[in-house]
Amino acid sequence: MRIAVTGKAGQVVTSLLERGVAAGHEVIALGRPELDLVDPASVVCALEAAAPDVIVSAAAYTAVDKAESESDLAYAVNGAGAGAVAQAAKARGMPLIHVSTDYVFDGTLDRPYVESDATGPTGVYGASKLAGEQAVLAVHGDNSAILRVAWVYSPFGANFVKTMLRLAGDRDEVSVVADQLGNPTSALEIADAILLVATNLVADSNPALRGVFHMTASGEASWADFAEAIFAGSAARGGPTAQVKRVTTADYPTTVKRPANSRLDCGLIAKVHGVALPYWRQSLDSVIARLQPTAN
Ligand SMILES: NC(=O)c1ccc[n+]([C@@H]2O[C@H](COP(=O)([O-])OP(=O)(O)OC[C@H]3O[C@@H](n4cnc5c(N)ncnc54)[C@H](OP(=O)(O)O)[C@@H]3O)[C@@H](O)[C@H]2O)c1
Repeated sequence: MRIAVTGKAGQVVTSLLERGVAAGHEVIALGRPELDLVDPASVVCALEAAAPDVIVSAAAYTAVDKAESESDLAYAVNGAGAGAVAQAAKARGMPLIHVSTDYVFDGTLDRPYVESDATGPTGVYGASKLAGEQAVLAVHGDNSAILRVAWVYSPFGANFVKTMLRLAGDRDEVSVVADQLGNPTSALEIADAILLVATNLVADSNPALRGVFHMTASGEASWADFAEAIFAGSAARGGPTAQVKRVTTADYPTTVKRPANSRLDCGLIAKVHGVALPYWRQSLDSVIARLQPTAN
């Protein structure tokens, strides 16, 4: 398959390049300056030139707190930009995989969210990503799969795992929120799953394969659980470690309120695409192994 993905150095983009090429696919990463999501003409031009079999829309404005003061830019990239990618996919008559987020929900439910649950983003980032989903569905809904992922980490870019390992290098104790639950998900596993979904979309026009899907690692954790697992994995390899001080959301105020419950039910994608991501601790271990190789 020839796969075009938006973005160049993002976690999901870099993971898709690694896993896609390893699986024998041709993966073309299209980012700034040739493809800038705020410039629809550049989006059309870059995707036309790439002439892929499938497009993966993975680039996004991802600065959750900063989005509050840069809402025009967040909406231009995540809303209108996502729509421009969908237009280009429609014009070429090719399937689109659009990556979205758990932040489309407000996190007040007491069970994992299913795709049909009401959305209700608590900030500009989530609202702009929801606008992107709506644009994709309006423009090219009959040939798109929207994959909502969450709590993404990887050996690449900036993420919670790398932040925790850095903090463990210079302090003995780290305060981490223990009353928000989610599904820590490796971008490398997301990439593998995107390849499966892409293969299905290219091979089969069945409408059941299109639409909105939740796609995270299996198993759940709080941020504090996640941090403890990171430190345990690092310590086991002789790397930096720290104690986790379990705190509440109220102890750790952020510009945008994070959902207390970010858990996503991934039953639908398992059923229709045959995609089930591994247990989060298993994937975490392999990412830590890459970030923190043993000394000997
Ligand atoms: N990270 C998470 O925890 C998380 C959670 C849920 C959902 N998601 C979603 O998952 C997807 C991938 O996230 P990620 O963690 O891989 O993101 P990331 O590491 O922050 O990377 C974002 C990518 O988007 C590109 N980008 C930003 N603005 C752009 C523009 N105007 N034109 C073209 N490219 C632009 C960046 O390009 P540069 O390299 O040039 O900056 C970068 O390659 C996103 O859709 C995000 O909303 C992420």
